[in-house]
Amino acid sequence: MGSKNKLKRFNENETFDNVIQPTREEMTTAFEWKGKWAAFFKNDNPITLELGCGKGEYTIDLARKYPNRNFIGVDIKGARFWRGAKTAIEEGLTNVAFLRTQIELVEYAFGKHEIDEIWITFPDPQIKYKRTKHRMTNPEFLSKYKNILVEGGFINLKTDSEFMHGYTLGGLLQGLGEDIVFAHHDIYTHTEAPEEVVRTQTFYEKQYLEQGKAITYLKFRLR
Ligand SMILES: C[S@@+](CC[C@H](N)C(=O)[O-])C[C@H]1O[C@@H](n2cnc3c(N)ncnc32)[C@H](O)[C@@H]1O
Repeated sequence: MGSKNKLKRFNENETFDNVIQPTREEMTTAFEWKGKWAAFFKNDNPITLELGCGKGEYTIDLARKYPNRNFIGVDIKGARFWRGAKTAIEEGLTNVAFLRTQIELVEYAFGKHEIDEIWITFPDPQIKYKRTKHRMTNPEFLSKYKNILVEGGFINLKTDSEFMHGYTLGGLLQGLGEDIVFAHHDIYTHTEAPEEVVRTQTFYEKQYLEQGKAITYLKFRLR
């Protein structure tokens, strides 16, 4: 995307009511919506997060399907989620928001048990050992998710990366005795894959599918 186009999207994001872009300082001092997302949405419907949402395909698709739930896409790249924010406005989806922040800061953005469910869609697998701390399902991230999730809240991980799938499933969850509800290494060949897992395809996912890659899916909850 050209820098002119990006700038146009950044400027448009500033005018969107469904886009929130705090500075790091605003986020880490007293972020106005932490623990108060019900006031943002003007209802106390359960909230689902899409972390590393990119253009926000899951946020939008689930919001269309579940008007009585709220959905927040989180990403550091505003020019990407501009697409989802614009679609939500065009379609009058009032149960959608996009938050521009680092996923590392989720505990500053959301109160304890404020979130009902999390989707992590095609995160960078961060394969190199030195990058472990940036891997979005490492124990530090999982502990943050646990704090903001309701007890028993589901986490969904959809990825083309066998490494990420195996690391999360075998490396962490099984060892910790966590509750794995669904796990499959190639969901489009699975006859009983949950509908929303095979119905919605993200921007990155479409590229991986074109390359003939298998798509993995994990649904779990933390004890
Ligand atoms: C590979 S892309 C996937 C995007 C989208 N979910 C999809 O499937 O098309 C990963 C996304 O995560 C975002 N991201 C990576 N690390 C992040 C972090 N620490 N905080 C916020 N966003 C992050 C990137 O900006 C990017 O949009």
